[in-house]
Amino acid sequence: MTVSAPTSALSSQEVEDDRPTTEPPTVPLARDTPGRPKSGRRRAVSQERLASLVQGRKAVLCVDNVSVSFDGFKALNELTLILDAGELRCIIGPNGAGKTTLMDCITGKTRPDAGSVYLVGHGEDLIGLSEHEIAALGICRKFQRPTVFGGHSVFENLELALAGNRSVWRALFGGLSKAEAEVIDQTLETIGLKEARDRPAGQLSHGQKQWLEIGMLLAQKPRVLLVDEPIAGMTHAETERTAELLVSLAGERTVVVVEHDMEFVRNIASRVTVLHEGRVLAEGSLDQVQANSEVVEVYLGAGHA
Ligand SMILES: Nc1ncnc2c1ncn2[C@@H]1O[C@H](COP(=O)(O)OP(=O)(O)O)[C@@H](O)[C@H]1O
Ligand SMILES: [Mg+2]
Repeated sequence: MTVSAPTSALSSQEVEDDRPTTEPPTVPLARDTPGRPKSGRRRAVSQERLASLVQGRKAVLCVDNVSVSFDGFKALNELTLILDAGELRCIIGPNGAGKTTLMDCITGKTRPDAGSVYLVGHGEDLIGLSEHEIAALGICRKFQRPTVFGGHSVFENLELALAGNRSVWRALFGGLSKAEAEVIDQTLETIGLKEARDRPAGQLSHGQKQWLEIGMLLAQKPRVLLVDEPIAGMTHAETERTAELLVSLAGERTVVVVEHDMEFVRNIASRVTVLHEGRVLAEGSLDQVQANSEVVEVYLGAGHA
């Protein structure tokens, strides 16, 4: 893959949606519909409300009572979810449960009808900020399809990601500071692509491309990394490596994984949230939620047993 204007693919607006094509697009409907908060309307965080949600936990992100309707259908229904600093959280649930819509609301792609999203330590409700502003606050999302620059080497891809808003020309030809080069080496180590540093990204395997893209997101120093179905299309070995990678990334940052594969979830998850009909149905270890009769019913009903 060659990209004529590499900067554009780095901006979140350009990243393609993973939603199956049979599903309707989210963006046009969700923005500036009557009754929704107008885009750009900023709201201060209610510290009292935040404290009552957090209750002494080491929270990093709070989704507070968020509702989203599409033509009267509630994709998210007064959903409240609290993510702790450094945790690895899996979000599961049958098709249509609202998982992607939840990610869309956290990242500013969809504007909810009601509710708030708080990033602890940030004074403004994230609802009302643009996708770009939210990403700049360290909430980064990895989509299913890798969007690496195939004609550039693995190293250059990381260099471009690190450059962020700096011009691509400067990123590629302006030379790296020592600190920047160290960050890239460290990232190559983390994502297991040290050996592949000089290979064109287009020649990497599907799994390697996914890891490179995770590495590119790491360059943005995310506080929260959202990953949508990371192992789709991966080999068994790549799947195992991805589990290790995601586990290793938590701790320093919060990692949220939406995934269908229960074996994978069992391998990586410390805590699992089950969504159903736009709400949190259950939360706990995978064993705990699988022993929950409502969860069993929902999965059997949806043919996911
Ligand atoms: N832009 C949209 N317009 C209409 N309905 C939508 C839109 N986006 C999502 N939905 C509906 O909202 C529900 C939740 O969707 P989604 O968040 O994609 O679920 P999941 O990711 O859990 O499968 C589904 O019924 C879906 O069809
Ligand atoms: Mg989805």
